[in-house]
Amino acid sequence: MTRVVSFRHMADGTREDYLLLEELEREFAAGLPERVLAALRRLDHSFEGYRITRLVHSLQTATRAEAAGADEELVLGALLHDVGDELAPFNHAELAAGILRPYVRPEVTWIVEQHGLFQTYHYAHHLGGDRHQRERHKGHPWYDACVAFCEWDQASFDPDYPTRPLAHFEPLVRRILSREAYDPRWIAPGT
Ligand SMILES: [Fe+2]
Ligand SMILES: [Fe+2]
Repeated sequence: MTRVVSFRHMADGTREDYLLLEELEREFAAGLPERVLAALRRLDHSFEGYRITRLVHSLQTATRAEAAGADEELVLGALLHDVGDELAPFNHAELAAGILRPYVRPEVTWIVEQHGLFQTYHYAHHLGGDRHQRERHKGHPWYDACVAFCEWDQASFDPDYPTRPLAHFEPLVRRILSREAYDPRWIAPGT
């Protein structure tokens, strides 16, 4: 029989209820790598107007990161950096950063979170915008790393580039997203 909590309002829950939910949440979280891979595969039929799909763009960015010697957390960041395009079209970078945050070092989360802004350097001037907005972060310890990341990103719209397949990156996705996650619910602010 399926185990369920006793409450209808969270405020009425017991310790047993919350221990049960914690156990079930842990089991659910274990499926994250497969859900992320499924979300990536779904990007194979979108990205209208570009010469390649969002999936190929993601794979190509990760391929370039790997070829440049990036460590595997940053390669994962490159693979997932646009995974939020479908659900957060105006702030997709934040969504990807949110997925990564519990599993990778803060530098990688920051780079992914900022890539949307940094990337405008490569096109904003064509639309009457300010391509130098990223300079508000000048002097930040990860500024140069984000600029380099966006070089991989902006170059990864090439149908002729030898892009590695998703199968190549699957072990890395499973390895990192199966780590013991940092859970922000239990960490006091400022620690
Ligand atoms: Fe992006
Ligand atoms: Fe991108």
